[in-house]
This record gives sequence, structure tokens and C-alpha cells, in this order.
Amino acid sequence: MAALINGKEVSAKVRESVRLETEEFKKRTGVTPGLAVILVGDDPASKIYVGNKKKACLEEGFNSFEHILPESTTETELLELIKKLNADPAVHGILCQLPLPKHINERAVIEAISPEKDVDAFHPQNVGRIMTGNYKFLPCTPAGIMELIHSTGISVSGKRCTVVGRSNIVGKPMAMLLLHENGTVNICHSKTADLKAECLRADILVAAVGKAKLITEDMVKEGAVVIDVGMNRNEQGKLCGDVDFENVSKKASFITPVPGGVGPMTIAMLMRNTLTAAKTAAGEIS
Ligand code: GUN
Repeated sequence: MAALINGKEVSAKVRESVRLETEEFKKRTGVTPGLAVILVGDDPASKIYVGNKKKACLEEGFNSFEHILPESTTETELLELIKKLNADPAVHGILCQLPLPKHINERAVIEAISPEKDVDAFHPQNVGRIMTGNYKFLPCTPAGIMELIHSTGISVSGKRCTVVGRSNIVGKPMAMLLLHENGTVNICHSKTADLKAECLRADILVAAVGKAKLITEDMVKEGAVVIDVGMNRNEQGKLCGDVDFENVSKKASFITPVPGGVGPMTIAMLMRNTLTAAKTAAGEIS
């Protein structure tokens, strides 16, 4: 039976260390880290995520600047707001909640955010830095997953790692972070010929697809570490991951639950990135 990787516990530790570091930073510099979060439209899930980010900021002792804009906001208006936030010295991090309404070009918005304030690490300059290993920010969800893997005490070095999903937000950067720690990495997607065979090889399996119960027990190697990034709703409307938790947990050595696994880590790492951005702006990190 797998041991549970407790995302609430690991994230609480990260959050506490950020809170203490923030206290020291404020005393030293008189600067309060500030995070601006932009939400366009009224997607219910996005509203919850944005609310959680604000709450986390206040708990860390940060300033939170919320910009809730109507669905009808034009791309020009959004780019204008980003320009203002880029120039505002009280704002150290800028996060524009995705997805954006269809009439707004997501890429243009991501590229408009100053790379120094890009706490999501979505800007091409930051993505490039991740590729070369010379980064300031790591994307929050993959960075949080690395913390969860570290919490198991298992080393990634030399392990076969399979990432299922190739999104820019999770799959691709996840593969890169596992590679940085000397994992042998394999990225699977909807055109992968034999997903089961690829997953069965994995010592560390990361599922980031968005399909409930895609990963079943017969696809998991005995003793594997299984990380579930999925946030799906089942037929009863209950939150569930990409992994058939009940059965896969009989085979895995460690497994993340949904909820309470990867989810809480994303916000914790966002807080860490915001503090890093504030320290960089204050000249403490080059
Ligand atoms: N939407 C879902 N996850 C994320 C995230 O990590 N960052 C942003 N900006 N939007 C998201």
C-alpha cells in the first residue's frame, strides 16, 4: 500500500518558510512584496483560484493587488493594465489567470508581462532560462511537484520518469525539472502509441492530462512514485485526479491524493516566486 504524499503538509512548510523570510526581508529593506493578480471574465474555477491567491498573499504578509475585469475587456485594455503594473514599483509579481477569453491572445499577454515580474515563469525568456538551467523562477506546479518528490526522500537521479501530458504550464517544464535532477525522462501525449508500456517503465510517473482515471493499476510499476496533477470532476461532481487512486495506491510506493496533493503546492511556489521577485527588485538577488 502506497504512502500518501501530503501536499497540505509540504505546502504549509514552504509557506511558513516564505512567511518568516518575508518578515526578515521587510525589516531589512522596508519593502513589502506585492503580487498583482488579473482575472478576466467570470469562470467559477478561476474565481476560486484567484481568491485563494489573495488569501495566501495576506497570510504571507504580502500586498495583494486584485484586478477583476469583465469578460468584455479588450486585449488592448488588458495590455495597458499590464504595462502599468510592469512600471509599478509596489508590484513585484504579475499573474494573469489563464485561460483568457477567446478574443484575447494569450501569447501576447504572457509576452507583455515583464520577465522580472513573471512569477508564473510563462514568458519565453523564463522558459528559455529553464531549458538552460539558468533560471530565477520555476513554474509553480512543476516546482511544487519537485518539492513533493523530495519529501519522499527518493532521489530522481537515474530514475525512469514518465510525464503524461505536454502542456506549456505543466508537462513540458515538468520534464525539464526532472531532467535537471538527472532523471531519464519520457513525455507522453495523445499520439503516444502504447501509453501503458511507457507508464509501466516509470519509477516516477506524473499524470497531467485532465482525464479522470486515465492511469489505471495495470499501467503502474510496482513501487513507483505516482504524482497526480489532474483536477477533474467525476459523474457525481466530486473532484478527482487523472489517476485511479483507489487501485493505483495498492501498487505505488508513494502517491499524491486529489485534492490535497499537488494543488496546495502551486500557491506555495507562487508565494516563493513573488518573494524572489521582490528580493531581486531590492537588489538582494542578481
Ligand atoms: N490557470 C491554471 N493554472 C494556472 C497557473 O498556474 N497560472 C496561471 N496564470 N493561470 C493558471
